[in-house]
Amino acid sequence: MLPGRMERPYAENNLLHVVGRQFGDPVVFVVVYLTSMLFRRFFFLLALGVAPLHATTDTIPNFAMLDHEGRFHEFDYLCKTPKTKGILIFVQGNGCPLVQKRIPELKRVREDYGKRGIEVVFLNANLQDTREEIREEAKAYEMDFPILIDDAQVMARKLGLTRTAEAILIDAKTQKIVYRGSIDDRLHYQKEKPEASEYYLVPALDAFLEGEAPAKPQTEAPGCKITLENPQAELSYAEHIAPILKRRCVTCHTKGGIGPFPMSSYKKVKGWSEMMEEVIVTRQMPPWHADPHIGKFAEDQGLTTDEKSTLLAWIDAGAPRGDGEDPLAGYKPKSVEWRLGTPDLVIDLPIQKVPAEGVLPYRYVRLETPFDEDVWLRGMEVNPGNENVLHHVVVTGKRKGSK
Ligand code: HEC
Repeated sequence: MLPGRMERPYAENNLLHVVGRQFGDPVVFVVVYLTSMLFRRFFFLLALGVAPLHATTDTIPNFAMLDHEGRFHEFDYLCKTPKTKGILIFVQGNGCPLVQKRIPELKRVREDYGKRGIEVVFLNANLQDTREEIREEAKAYEMDFPILIDDAQVMARKLGLTRTAEAILIDAKTQKIVYRGSIDDRLHYQKEKPEASEYYLVPALDAFLEGEAPAKPQTEAPGCKITLENPQAELSYAEHIAPILKRRCVTCHTKGGIGPFPMSSYKKVKGWSEMMEEVIVTRQMPPWHADPHIGKFAEDQGLTTDEKSTLLAWIDAGAPRGDGEDPLAGYKPKSVEWRLGTPDLVIDLPIQKVPAEGVLPYRYVRLETPFDEDVWLRGMEVNPGNENVLHHVVVTGKRKGSK
């Protein structure tokens, strides 16, 4: 199952660490963490056991999103916060009176139930609302809740959202929906009562916190329609998918690259497609976390909203092959030795031996820089001798004599 385990008990990695122009510090302190490739493979076999994410079931799969302020939120993390018993997601959308009129009530819900372990977040899945516009709306209506932005409408599809102003209460422990629907019957299209005659959300919250099922687990929630982007009817692997993978993934996911499996053919990609969906939805991959709303980055590795929707729609459709030659068969991304140009100075690390199995503790490797005067550091790059065994490197600088 794990080829090469006996024949090759050790893998070697001589890590090159380069300093372009060094500023000040006479000592560079390098922390290296290495992991065995075989261990990683084993981990991936385990990871394959994760349940598929298709269908609108009651259990909410993990997902991660940025909010209107650019802050990162992960569903699993929220659920596992010790004080959290339930998550209340309120579906927001700009310009919808049925949303705007609910804000004071939701603040009262947070006031009353926040201390009892209910975390309230908003979710915006509107195609037409930009982050800037959501910020403006939040300011105008004093929505001081995190508004998670589902730009690729991933959760809109999974939760089966059709309208805004819906409240969804989720049990943090089971991650199942306990209640979904309206807050009460006060608001309806073009109609508004001064007082509700029936309340739904608050009794559902009370029942849930008492450990009981709400009497009414689902009600109709009047709100504004959410238009879901219709993915192109015929997404073709060769025409639409492989180019995105080449741009965003294959640089690492190639034979000998740092990604643990190569995206080297349609069959490979299809086999990994469910796992790809999971890591995209949870924002683990591509490993690029710069916020696209802040400036423009050179060599941006992030998926655009369009690319993300296209990939996910294709996976959802069962990753169809379609026509055309396989653009990933035999494709090898250009490899460059130094991404930042030829360095002024290369510092070799002593060769690191990595056992074929097991978890390794951090290794701290100290190296001295050869400078005897202050110099400017313009950039630096880590160039692993064996990408298959290097997991990550943290490089820090220390002044001589400091701890
Ligand atoms: C900069 C390099 C890099 C890029 C770009 C990249 N990956 Fe990865 N990927 C990795 C590494 C490294 C791992 C292993 C992570 C680990 O061991 O913690 C990985 C792991 C994975 C896994 C397995 C996750 C698991 O935990 O089982 C999947 C699936 C994946 N990547 C999909 C993608 C997709 C899809 C893209 C493009 C949208 C992508 N990756 C882009 C480096 C990359």
